[in-house]
Amino acid sequence: MSAPKNQAAWLKKAGTPLEVSDAPLPTAGPGEIVVKNAAIAINPLDCHMQDQGVFVQQWPAIFGCDVAGEVYEAGPDVQGFKKGDRVIGHAINLVTGRPQDGAFALYTVIPADKAAILPDAISFQDGVVVSFAVEAAVCALSVKEPGIAMPGVSTPALGLPYPSLDAMPSSGKTLVVYGGSSSVGSMTTQLATAAGIHVIAISGAHNFDFSKRCGAAQVFDHKDPPVIKKVIKAIGKSGGEFVGIFDAIATPETYANDLAILSKLGGGHLACVHPPPTEVPANVRAGMIFAVNDVATPVYKNYVTPALQAGKLRCLPPPTVVGKGLEHINEALKKSRAGVSATKLVVTL
Ligand SMILES: NC(=O)c1ccc[n+]([C@@H]2O[C@H](COP(=O)([O-])OP(=O)(O)OC[C@H]3O[C@@H](n4cnc5c(N)ncnc54)[C@H](OP(=O)(O)O)[C@@H]3O)[C@@H](O)[C@H]2O)c1
Repeated sequence: MSAPKNQAAWLKKAGTPLEVSDAPLPTAGPGEIVVKNAAIAINPLDCHMQDQGVFVQQWPAIFGCDVAGEVYEAGPDVQGFKKGDRVIGHAINLVTGRPQDGAFALYTVIPADKAAILPDAISFQDGVVVSFAVEAAVCALSVKEPGIAMPGVSTPALGLPYPSLDAMPSSGKTLVVYGGSSSVGSMTTQLATAAGIHVIAISGAHNFDFSKRCGAAQVFDHKDPPVIKKVIKAIGKSGGEFVGIFDAIATPETYANDLAILSKLGGGHLACVHPPPTEVPANVRAGMIFAVNDVATPVYKNYVTPALQAGKLRCLPPPTVVGKGLEHINEALKKSRAGVSATKLVVTL
């Protein structure tokens, strides 16, 4: 049987549209699987990669972080995955720079420890929203020792427990998730709640129900001027130990609010999706997550599939399918740049 043909949406130069054309069919090395993609998801990072070429190490480039599809080939030493398995996976071109590790193609190499079997009852377009957000959420919650996110910027180290498949008793800890309706914020809320952590979310008023579906005990409106006071009061009433804030938005406005809350409560952790504020008080331990981190391996390995199967982990925010075919990725990137609310943009293949 002749080998299938691969195609990819290539970035040839920063600031230009992706161009769909042939690509080499990747092969699976040790610890890797090749996925025949059925759906890919768009993340805000992809827009920065297209616009400025950030993280691009090799031109032309194939990027993109989230895939769902069927295993086409499993590497020699890979256990737990075989040809034909339905999977979701986190593509890490971001760190390797190799085009075959980018999601925006018909076939992508995924590290086996950043993949999970997708239960039959879940469609590829639903499942594809999960992987990168899971890794970002685990990085926000469960890193124990600070590392380096980028030169001069430490990673945060909240050291909170991993999510559990069991019904968790309260851990006695309270975490604020700023951006509770974002992809990363809502996944962090899901995983934190599954670790027994009391989550107070800050979201748009139209997304209160959504944030609660993800597990938030309380939600406050980011556009409401007294939001800081309300959040501080809610933290006090939660009765738990306040561990800090995960800021999944990370703008000057959210940082000002984070620091106002932390200063009132005697400090704590501030985990951010972008470099943290340059000046923070001594009692605030601030850092930026870098969502390619082995800390997520036990979660992919032991939690994602059974939790999806049991309905404990849900494919949220739900997908908005922009189109079918690699040529729709440019349109999806344009929509992502314009902003989304409690949804993840997806292209099916
Ligand atoms: N460092 C890393 O490793 C890493 C990894 C992944 C992502 N990121 C970054 O994390 C950020 C979030 O990514 P994402 O995919 O989760 O984004 P997203 O889903 O596209 O974010 C959209 C959401 O942001 C919310 N939002 C916007 N402004 C807000 C504010 N002032 N307060 C509260 N919520 C606000 C909106 O909420 P409403 O509609 O409810 O108003 C909307 O639901 C991006 O900047 C991304 O680049 C970093």
